[in-house]
Amino acid sequence: MSELTFSIVKPDAVEAGQAGAVLQMILDAGLKIRAMKMIRLTREQAEGFYAVHRERPFFKDLVNYMISGPVVVSVLEGDNAIARYRELMGATDPAKAAEGTIRKRFGKSIEANACHGSDGPDTAKTEVAYFFSRLEMVG
Ligand code: RTP
Ligand code: MG
Repeated sequence: MSELTFSIVKPDAVEAGQAGAVLQMILDAGLKIRAMKMIRLTREQAEGFYAVHRERPFFKDLVNYMISGPVVVSVLEGDNAIARYRELMGATDPAKAAEGTIRKRFGKSIEANACHGSDGPDTAKTEVAYFFSRLEMVG
């Protein structure tokens, strides 16, 4: 069943000039890009996006990192897209990520790990709506 998921190419990867390579890996995996833009998050936007992590010890660092530079946000579509994109990203810690994953190839640390992907249908829906209006969805 075709579904949507939400992706961020994080500031470390954009800064390193790797956004195109990350997006190419997504396309090569057979996922379609339904919407995309480059933005720089405000502190409020980043805190809202990661609100579920508000009580975690790494929350403040995570927000500072996510606003440290531009990100490329996109909506991906495909059969089983949420699980497939999580698999393509690899483990949160790039040191533990499998060969052939985005984080293994481009992740710099457990925080600066190159990409974000929704972790389930409910979060996918919320995250897509957080960044994109219906008018920005293509196809
Ligand atoms: P994401 O939400 O970005 O797709 O990553 P994830 O599900 O694999 O990891 P999650 O547990 O949701 O953590 C969100 C992001 O917070 C940063 N993090 N830092 N310093 C730390 O121990 C730590 N742990 C997580 C990472 O940027 C992670 O992707
Ligand atoms: Mg997560």
